[in-house]
Amino acid sequence: MTRPTKRPLPKRRPQPTAEPRTLEATVTEVGARGDGIASVGGLRLFVPLTVPGDRVRVRVRDSGGEPKGEGLRAELLEILEPGPGRGTPPCAHFGTCGGCTLQHMDDAAYAAWKVGLVRGALARVGLGDAPMAPLSRTPPAARRRARFAALKRGRRVWFGFNERQSHRLADLEDCPVLLPRLAALIEPLRALLLDVLPDGGGCDVIATDLEGGIDLVLVGPRSLDRAARERLVAFNEAAVARISWQADDRGSPEPIAHRRPVAVRFAGHPVTPPPGAFLQASAEGEAALVAAVLETVGEARRVADLFAGLGTFAVPLAQRSAVHAVEGDSPALAALAKEVGGLRLTTERRDLFENPLTAKELARFDAVVFDPPRAGAAAQAQALAGSKVPLVVGVSCNPATFARDARTLVDGGYALERVHPVDQFLWSAHVELVGVFKR
Ligand SMILES: C[S@@+](CC[C@H](N)C(=O)[O-])C[C@H]1O[C@@H](n2cnc3c(N)ncnc32)[C@H](O)[C@@H]1O
Repeated sequence: MTRPTKRPLPKRRPQPTAEPRTLEATVTEVGARGDGIASVGGLRLFVPLTVPGDRVRVRVRDSGGEPKGEGLRAELLEILEPGPGRGTPPCAHFGTCGGCTLQHMDDAAYAAWKVGLVRGALARVGLGDAPMAPLSRTPPAARRRARFAALKRGRRVWFGFNERQSHRLADLEDCPVLLPRLAALIEPLRALLLDVLPDGGGCDVIATDLEGGIDLVLVGPRSLDRAARERLVAFNEAAVARISWQADDRGSPEPIAHRRPVAVRFAGHPVTPPPGAFLQASAEGEAALVAAVLETVGEARRVADLFAGLGTFAVPLAQRSAVHAVEGDSPALAALAKEVGGLRLTTERRDLFENPLTAKELARFDAVVFDPPRAGAAAQAQALAGSKVPLVVGVSCNPATFARDARTLVDGGYALERVHPVDQFLWSAHVELVGVFKR
């Protein structure tokens, strides 16, 4: 049986206009998405699962194949001569599962590549010489939050992550990245979804490890009949504290079972996350980001925390500063606002893309922390560039948009004093960072 696709295939697929051909090439670098890059006869090739120095045999189609950005995606047929920096992938699913792209690198090459991602993005905007702190690392078995995909065909459920650059599902048995408590749920969830999903139906499952137990949100199926609800209500009481369901990503979660209170703790303060709320992906990654922010902000008296979420930075900052937390998501902000008793913390719901804090509003702060989603904070960076705030700390999960916003701040008179890269998404092509700007 072939693996199912999550989405139906397009009716008309591009037809290859040339026969595939086999080439030999040497990989010279690993690109931002984790593919090796090689050049042959003027062709730029993206070769997955390779490292610089690998001499490889690959299959490519010159046209009608799979153009990828400024080159062609090539299929790796054979490694003729391995380059330095190869390692042994720890996971049996590596190569198929799209969750990890870089387990084939040895640890030193991998860490250097992650730092290079940040350095490269900054260099593209003329800030490549910013002082760089050592990479903060997250160990395996630490990810506390994951979004799985599932699809049922007949009496079988595929459950796991999508294959690389594909909508096909890699069927997962185990995952060395996840906290063992989450990995242990893979088989029980597969069995649950066999009963809950209709034939041909799919859903995503967001699983978050919280104090009190695991929080599950099923996104899809579009409806739940009574038997499905009853099955969910009875699911894994020992490990799972809360189960919610929403028909799709635009819907709001509907509570299905709530057995125990759940919480996440920031600087000792419990906050109850709404189902599916954003949380840093690992406790270790969060600790590294929070330490970098706290160390930089120091004793600043009045601090704004923009894109504050549940208060990952706002609550620890409020131990020594007066903090104004601004966030666009009402449920997250309400959860934080409930916990501010005893802290010098005020909250504001605001869309910071449409309505960033103005230079005038920013004038009352000694420091501003901003931690936007992957799209970055273009409008807020513009307003900060025109402000007089002496210290700005940017936290980001996307070096490219961070670099864009950093350029805006530097053009507005700030100096990028230090960048602290944090590897929170182990073996993936993602990297996070904290950047410190002063004027
Ligand atoms: C990367 S998360 C960071 C959250 C928090 N700082 C943390 O570390 O847990 C980005 C946050 O930005 C919020 N957000 C996204 N778009 C927004 C917007 N246009 N205006 C305000 N907040 C927004 C999201 O709800 C999310 O909480």
